[in-house]
Amino acid sequence: MQDIDAVVDDALTLFAGINDADELERVKARYLGKSGAINELAKGLGKLPPAERPAMGSRINAAKSKLEEALKDQRERIQAAKLEQKLKSEALDVTLPGRGSGLGGLHPVSRTLERAEQIFHSLGFEVADGPEIETDFYNFTALNQPENHPARSMHDTFYLENSKLLLRTHTSPIQVRYMQTHQPPIRIIAPGRVYRVDSDATHSPMFHQAEGLWIDTHISFANLKGVVTEFFKLFFERNDLQVRFRPSFFPFTEPSAEIDMSFGEGWLEVGGCGMVHPNVLRNVNIDSQQYQGFAFGMGLDRLTMLRYGVNDLRLFFENDLRFLRQFR
Ligand code: PHE
Repeated sequence: MQDIDAVVDDALTLFAGINDADELERVKARYLGKSGAINELAKGLGKLPPAERPAMGSRINAAKSKLEEALKDQRERIQAAKLEQKLKSEALDVTLPGRGSGLGGLHPVSRTLERAEQIFHSLGFEVADGPEIETDFYNFTALNQPENHPARSMHDTFYLENSKLLLRTHTSPIQVRYMQTHQPPIRIIAPGRVYRVDSDATHSPMFHQAEGLWIDTHISFANLKGVVTEFFKLFFERNDLQVRFRPSFFPFTEPSAEIDMSFGEGWLEVGGCGMVHPNVLRNVNIDSQQYQGFAFGMGLDRLTMLRYGVNDLRLFFENDLRFLRQFR
């Protein structure tokens, strides 16, 4: 019979030298398998004198435990080494220079939009919002422009195919939506994108407006003039800025006016305005005997061009970084 201690020593040395999990399992069979060394030793027990069997038996068991323990340790060592290897191969080189993040900036029209919101906020106006895809009702009908009203042709409208939906031609539908869900007093500013079939140096099929609306019990055209004039003075930081109200027509205001501001020697149109037409108030169930007010809409792109001295509107929408970087 083989010497037990010699078998254990052999096995331990062998296990310790193995770095591959599969190989370790193959070698294990040689010692702990069915016809492995430990079993062979156990088979020899029968040939021993009965008095020596118990002592020998427990020595064999102890040897078996020792080998199993060693195997377990070695398995763990192989596993750990494998993990170590993996971590090493996937390691980040923290000394490499980074990709760098380009510094972005607000679009000039966004700057105007934020500036307008801030100024109107300081005048007590809340900001309101509405969808860019509108229904015929909100864009025209509710604004006192029934289906065959000639004023509908003032806007060249983008209609959505096979539906009554359209891209809003102005921010005025937001007035209607807001008045449907709020009771006076109402004081809002509603900036956003609008769409018309139009394209040249001063017109883009998509452009920006800001709608204003103030409804209360004692609002007059004088309040309209005061608010609009104050806004333009604050926006352009010029106290001597002149604002002119030129009689005009909008179906949803009466009386109506175009807003012009002084510019060099002449005047420049920057928006439309008027006292909200009683029919519009009626359409949203606001008592037009008790309440009245004004509305205005102004072109934010036009204001941006004036503020920064840009002479072609299309520059705003071409995404030319050389142009946009100047506003960062
Ligand atoms: N919605 C009008 C336009 O786009 C402007 C306007 C708004 C006029 C509010 C009067 C009152 O031309």
